[in-house]
Amino acid sequence: MSNLYVLNHPMIQHKLTLIRDKNTGPKDFRELMEEVAMFMAYEVTRDLAVEQVEVETPMGPAKSYVLAGKKLAIVPILRAGLGMVEGILRLIPAAKVGHIGLYRDPETLEPVEYFCKLPVDIGEREVILVDPMLATGGSAVAAANFLKKRGAQSIKLMCLISAPEGIEAFQAAHPDVDIFTAAVDKCLNEHAYIVPGLGDAGDRLYGTR
Ligand code: PRP
Ligand code: URA
Repeated sequence: MSNLYVLNHPMIQHKLTLIRDKNTGPKDFRELMEEVAMFMAYEVTRDLAVEQVEVETPMGPAKSYVLAGKKLAIVPILRAGLGMVEGILRLIPAAKVGHIGLYRDPETLEPVEYFCKLPVDIGEREVILVDPMLATGGSAVAAANFLKKRGAQSIKLMCLISAPEGIEAFQAAHPDVDIFTAAVDKCLNEHAYIVPGLGDAGDRLYGTR
C-alpha cells in the first residue's frame, strides 16, 4: 500500500482555507493555488537524493550538498492541474512539464482522455503527477496508467484536496505511488464533488461553468 502524506504545514493550511472560501475570486484563487503548490512541492521533494561536493566560499573550501541523480517531470492533469504548475516550477525551474488531458464525463463520471504529451525520457525522471482534486480517483488512476504505459518508473501524486473514496481507489490501483495532499475531506456528494472541498477547481481557476 502506498503512503499517504497529509501536509499540515501552517502555510499550506492557511492558503488552503483562503482557496476554499467561496468569496475568493479567480485572480486570488489562481495566485493562491500557485503559492500552495510551491509549498507542497517543497514537501514532495523532501527525499530527493543529494551528493556531497566541495565549494569555495570567501572563507575557503566547504563540503556541501547538491541535488543528484534523477531529473524531475511535472505532469498536470488538464485543466485544473495547470493551476499548480507555475508554483512548482518556481521551486524546480529545471523540471520538464508533460500534460495529460482528461475530463470527467458528467453522466458516467468516467475519465475521458483528450491529450497526452510527455517528455521523451519520462522513464528516467521522477514524475510529480499534479491535480488539485482527488474525488472518485478515476482521473488520477487513468493518468498514472498513461504514465506507466509510457515508461514512468517513479511517480508521486500531489493533490490539494482528497476524498477518502479517491484515496482508496488510487491506492488500490497504484500501490507503488505515494500520495501527498493538504487535506482529506469528508466525502463525495451525489455528483462526485468533494464535500466540503472547494467546488469545481477548473471553473474557479478559469472563470468557466
Ligand atoms: C476535475 C479535477 C480532477 C477530477 C477529479 O477535473 O481537476 O481532474 O475532476 O475527479 P475524479 O477524481 O472523480 O476523477 P474535471 O474533470 O472537472 O476537468 P477540468 O479540470 O477540465 O475542469
Ligand atoms: N472536480 C472538482 O473540480 N471538484 C470536485 O470536488 C470534484 C471533482
